[in-house]
Parts: sequence; structure tokens; C-alpha cells
Amino acid sequence: MSEYIKLVYGGKTYQLPLITSTENEKAIDITSLRQETGLITFDTGYANTGSCASAITFVDGEKGILRYRGIPIEQLAERSTFTETAFLLINGVLPTRKELSHFSVLLNDQSTLHTDMQFFFQNFPRGSHPMGILSSMVNALRGFYPELQTVEEEINITVTRLISKIRTLAAMSYKISMGYKVVYPRPDLSYCANFLNMMFDNPVRPYIIDKDLVRALDIFWILHADHEQNCSTSAVRLVGSGRVNLYAAISAGIAALWGPLHGGANQAVIEMFFEIAEKGGSVTRAVERAKDKKDPFRLMGFGHRVYKTYDPRAKIMKKTCGKILKKLNIQDPLLNIALELEEVVSTDDYFISHNLYPNVDFYSGILLRAIGIPINMFTVMFAIGRLPGWIAQWKESADDPNWKLGRPRQIYVGSKKMKYLPIDKRER
Ligand code: CMC
Repeated sequence: MSEYIKLVYGGKTYQLPLITSTENEKAIDITSLRQETGLITFDTGYANTGSCASAITFVDGEKGILRYRGIPIEQLAERSTFTETAFLLINGVLPTRKELSHFSVLLNDQSTLHTDMQFFFQNFPRGSHPMGILSSMVNALRGFYPELQTVEEEINITVTRLISKIRTLAAMSYKISMGYKVVYPRPDLSYCANFLNMMFDNPVRPYIIDKDLVRALDIFWILHADHEQNCSTSAVRLVGSGRVNLYAAISAGIAALWGPLHGGANQAVIEMFFEIAEKGGSVTRAVERAKDKKDPFRLMGFGHRVYKTYDPRAKIMKKTCGKILKKLNIQDPLLNIALELEEVVSTDDYFISHNLYPNVDFYSGILLRAIGIPINMFTVMFAIGRLPGWIAQWKESADDPNWKLGRPRQIYVGSKKMKYLPIDKRER
């Protein structure tokens, strides 16, 4: 017999069914709760709420496990490429050789931008944050590439168009913001190599593509490709549930990712390291501030809503970062600060009792800096990586025959009914 939870309320007993996940996690199914009992649940930050059933990504925050479509992140980082991982997330299976080469052809075909889009870039005020620009430009794509004829065409073309163009948009916005000549994508280069070339090639100093940097970028984007129902993915699902077009839903995801508690943490981490370096390099003050409840400061790149142990992505990021710095012979003082911080907090009671460990953003900025990515582009790099996950999650919800408009309830704590007061009677 299936399991259930008994709820006793108002002299009546209700049975709420339990749902069991593939990995044996249990959830109380409350879909009929309000209808049967008149009650709703209260869960700020949704820390105890499963918003959907999903077959895309599995995270075990206690054990530090992350798998895409069942495959451990360690294996993907070791053996896959970003485009192969994107295919896996979106289609549910690893591509055959033929499927992968077809996917690459589509990505190549979609890699250029409508020339009028350049005028958009020019009109953002100097100093605009690239995340704001990216979110606006992705939303604007709909105007340049309106609805396609069939649902299948709409999904396949729009998906590859987004994955391919986001990289071109990102590189182009960097070039334009610096006043440099725009570099177009090349059909002979892989996804990651193409991005690096569009970012760093210039007419007087051709960019030499280094296969180790290309590999590091592949790993960086694989590690960011999906992370189940995080803030930005939930934004994509929620906005998408109103049945907006995919560009608008992804644009919302980019905006959500921008925040320093979410994807914006990779920029905030490096800024924190710089501040420590400028004040003489001692990590003690940052650690003390992070523990002081009267100070809003948090140790950026530490802690996670789901992981209560070392983030598996951070382990791979740290290793990749070390390898690239060694290969490029870079002595980055920020790496020493990061290592010292990690060391100091690893024996600190506050951090131990709060289960605070490095997350994916702790070492990623040092790697990006070594590759040459400017700091204000760090979160854009996260967004490019997260795009396949957003698309996969949007597609999964769109394909669900029971897809419903997302619309949480609330506990109203405002005034009771009162009369409208004419303006001359209002006193404060
Ligand atoms: N430094 C100091 N204290 C912290 C930190 C931190 N980085 N993170 C959590 N805490 C403390 C917090 O003060 C609270 O303490 P207490 O219970 O004594 O009041 C306790 O830990 C729980 O904090 P919370 O904010 O309720 O926990 P959460 O699950 O909502 O927070 C988090 C998750 C990621 C927002 C938080 O750990 C944080 O702000 N970290 C720094 C920002 C960061 O690195 N974000 C990137 C996350 S990974 C990439 C991504 O998913 O986007």
C-alpha cells in the first residue's frame, strides 16, 4: 500500500500521500491540501518545497553528489565537452557521433547576429553591467527572430540559436564596451575555442588558441551547466509557466542569476579577495566579519542552500584552476588568499557548525582571470554555462501535460479593511 502522512486538523483526519524519488527522497504531496482542508503551507525561500518533478539533475547536498541525467559531474568534467553536455541536458541522452555533429552544424549556422543588433549595444550607457546588457539582448532576440512555423522547428532552432548566439552576444558586448573591433565566429573552431577567439583576437595581435585553455573553459561551463531548482532556474520555470516565449524566460533567468547571493557571487568573491589584498592580505578580518551577526558581510564563495559539505564543482574548479595557473606560470596572489581563507575556516567552529564550505564560485574567478576574462564578465560566463540547464528545465516543464501557471499563495499580514481617507484628513 502506498505511504501517506496523517494530518489532524479541525477534528478531522486527512491522508496526504508520500511521493518517493528515484534516489529515495520522500515528499508530502499537498496538491489537494487547500481544496480538502482550506490550509496552505508557509515556506519562505522554498527551502522545504519541491516545485516540480524533474529528471534532469540530481544533487545530494549531504554527500556532495551532482549528476546530470544520472552521470556524475566528475566523469563529465573529465571526459565530456560543453556542447555534448548541453545536448545531454536538453535531450536526456548523450549524443551519438552523428547527433553531435548535427548539433555542432546547427550551432555553427546560428552563431552570427543580425547586424542591426550591434546598434543596440552601442546605445547602452558606458559602464552598464554586462549582465543587464545580456538579459536585455536575449529578450530582444525575439524581435529579430520571430515565431517559427512549427512547434518542433520553434524548439530546435530557438534552442540552438540561443546557445550559439549567447556566446557571440557576450563576446561582442565585451569588444564594443572596450571600443575594440568586433570579431565574428569562425566555422572551423569549437564552441569554446570560438568564444576565446571572439573575445581576444584583434587585428594587430592574432589570438593563439591554447588547447589547455579551451579544455579549462569546457570544464568551467560543464560545471555550471545545471543545478536543479536554484533561483535563476526557478525564475525561468516560473516566468515560462505564463507561456512566454523562451527568449523572455531565459532573459528572466539571466536577471535572477545576476544577484551576489547567486551567480553574481563569482564577481563578489574576486572583489573580496582584492579588498583583502589591498588591506595587507590578512584573512582574519574577513573571517571575523563573516561571523559577526551585526555585520551583513558574508564570506563570498562559501555556503550553499543545498550542499552541507564541499561542493563537488568547487573541488574540480580548484584542481582546474591550479593546473591552468601552473601551465601559464601565473603567480596569482589572490590564489594564496583563497587557499589561506579555506585553510583558516576549515578549523573554525562557526564555519564547521554552519556547514559552510567553498562553493563553485570560490575558485572560479581565479581561473577566469587567468584565462583573461575581465571581472565584470564573470557572471556572464556563468550565464553562458547555465543556459543549457535553463533550456532543459523550461523544455521539461513545457512538455509536461500537467504544466500549470506558477502562482504561489501568501500569508497576508497587512491592514484589515479600512476606509479611504481624503487627502486633507491625513496627518503624519
Ligand atoms: N558567510 C558567513 N555566514 C554564512 C554564510 C557565509 N558565506 N553563508 C551562510 N551563513 C550563515 C548565515 O549567517 C546563517 O547563520 P545563522 O543561522 O547563525 O543566522 C546560516 O549560515 C544559514 O544561512 P542562510 O542564509 O539561512 O542559508 P541559505 O541556505 O539561505 O544560504 C547562501 C545560502 C548561498 C545564500 C549563503 O551561504 C551565502 O550567502 N553565501 C555567500 C554567497 C555565495 O557564495 N553564493 C553562491 C552560491 S553557489 C552558486 C549558486 O548557486 O549560485
